[in-house]
Amino acid sequence: MIISVAGYKGGIGKTTTAIHLAAILSKNAPTLLIDADPNRSAGVWARNGKLPFTVAPEKEATRIYREISPEHTVIDTQARPSPEELIDISKGCDLLILPTTVRALDFDALVQTVEKIISTGGAYKVLLIMIPPNSSRKSGEVIDILQGANIPVFKSVIYKYSFIEQLPLDGILVSKSNDINAKKVWKQYNQVGKEILG
Ligand SMILES: Nc1ncnc2c1ncn2[C@@H]1O[C@H](COP(=O)(O)OP(=O)(O)O)[C@@H](O)[C@H]1O
Ligand SMILES: [Mg+2]
Repeated sequence: MIISVAGYKGGIGKTTTAIHLAAILSKNAPTLLIDADPNRSAGVWARNGKLPFTVAPEKEATRIYREISPEHTVIDTQARPSPEELIDISKGCDLLILPTTVRALDFDALVQTVEKIISTGGAYKVLLIMIPPNSSRKSGEVIDILQGANIPVFKSVIYKYSFIEQLPLDGILVSKSNDINAKKVWKQYNQVGKEILG
């Protein structure tokens, strides 16, 4: 399965989502993460070799893909793709995951993005992330709104905790963090993984 993580905005949690979904999928079968963001944030996360899957820079992706023949590929895409690039990203994968927070501005960007993807007929699904743990009711309401608008959305959401911001610096996953909330977030990513694999 080829999964792309994308969105119209930067800083919406694409890399954090891509890294953790690749980790979950790699428990099931060989998984490759392609770092297609010129900022190389996924590559930086992987630099100390603590991640349980290979991260390939975009330009080396073809060679590394041939070497490891992964069952699953996760693509972390660049910030701010043009509408044309987003259409290409959608055509190049089996499932496009759109991480989104529940802020109104993110929603406007989401609606624009979804309209573009629908025009390609590609499969996509919204993942609500960085949900303040005390406003989980609000995220439930947002899920209802999206479903009411026929926008596919994961039932599982990812909570917002500040310890997550430290993970790329340490080059580790939430599952390797000692934070008291780490287990909860790891479970949330696992639930998203289950929804993906069906
Ligand atoms: N669930 C979360 N809780 C708290 N902070 C998060 C969470 N997910 C991502 N972040 C932080 O938000 C910022 C943007 O995330 P990142 O994955 O780099 O987004 P993008 O790849 O879209 O630019 C980073 O500082 C990251 O650590
Ligand atoms: Mg990124």
